[in-house]
Amino acid sequence: MFEALKPHVLEVLRDSALSVPERLQEVCNLLHNEIPVYDWVGFYFRNGTLEELKLGPYAGDPTDHTVIPFGKGICGQVALSNQNFVVPDVAAQDNYIACSLHVKAEIVIPIFVDGANIGQLDIDSHTPDPFSEKDERFLEFVCEAVAHIL
Ligand code: SME
Repeated sequence: MFEALKPHVLEVLRDSALSVPERLQEVCNLLHNEIPVYDWVGFYFRNGTLEELKLGPYAGDPTDHTVIPFGKGICGQVALSNQNFVVPDVAAQDNYIACSLHVKAEIVIPIFVDGANIGQLDIDSHTPDPFSEKDERFLEFVCEAVAHIL
């Protein structure tokens, strides 16, 4: 599934008829539609030089969390750690921002441009413990491809 999706991701990201935000929206839609356990797929980006993340394009239910300070929640921790964060069970996390009661698991992958952590891809799942290393490798591929067009 992931291998088959990679060319589609690249195709969307290279579509010069679309603006960059439109391409990112299409990537969210693609992952949300094609991967059954990806119930919410969205980008957060650093808000200028502020120590906070701002919601970018996303697919899934609207979220109240359009701004997340560095250090807060899973996303805010990734903004500081520069590491993937895989959460098999969100109920086991103290520093977690609940978006919906349906969410059971989350994965956040940072995006680097010229070595700087400029944002992240955040995925929520309604299925407990749905993510493997294959998800991590695939999402790292997506984030690297996204970094090329930013
Ligand atoms: N759960 C995230 C907040 C963002 S929502 O999942 C869309 C967190 O703890 O950072």
